[in-house]
Amino acid sequence: MAEQIIDFGLHNLKTSRIQSEDNTHFTNGVLINLSEKPIKYDGLTIEKYNSAVVGNINTQIEDALFFEWINIDPCEQTTCSDPKSIQNMWNHVYDVFKVDSLKNIPLWRSKQFSIGKTDINLWFCPSNTHCGIHNEHNFNELHTQIFGLGIMQKFKNEDFSSKYEDVLMPYGYTHSPFYKENYNYPWHQYKSITDCIWVALEFDRKD
Ligand SMILES: [Fe+2]
Repeated sequence: MAEQIIDFGLHNLKTSRIQSEDNTHFTNGVLINLSEKPIKYDGLTIEKYNSAVVGNINTQIEDALFFEWINIDPCEQTTCSDPKSIQNMWNHVYDVFKVDSLKNIPLWRSKQFSIGKTDINLWFCPSNTHCGIHNEHNFNELHTQIFGLGIMQKFKNEDFSSKYEDVLMPYGYTHSPFYKENYNYPWHQYKSITDCIWVALEFDRKD
């Protein structure tokens, strides 16, 4: 078994990439399949770029990410105990994208890692944050909730009043693709209900 630790700098979140031919034991955490081969256990299946909250399972996987909280129960706790350290460690969204409208949004991004054909990074925002409506990406993106409760929202245009869908994002959940062919996205945003941490999976980047 090959285990690669991915260090986002959070001392109470262990993130690993697992590649294994053998049965692997997973304790409690969020398992995301990065491979074409479905992960199967106890009659359940995790397809590529999908996820589940698992607890004490043994299964074969080709390539997966596993997020495990240490001394935190993300099903019970929805307030981030040390947001200042995340803010000091990660980059503010304005420093990432340099778009004026992002200046006042309390949103921070971790370092990005390339894991096989997928780029991953974490995002953090406090409760009740509108992270900004947008519809352009030069990659396909999906998000998996790692902490707290949020919503992925779709809009008819770049206006909050034009919202037409809320996709709730509970702990461990990965939403279905918003993208269509040629990186066509509806207007969308992430909105937090509680303090939130989620992972962005970015893939099939435009050359
Ligand atoms: Fe997006």
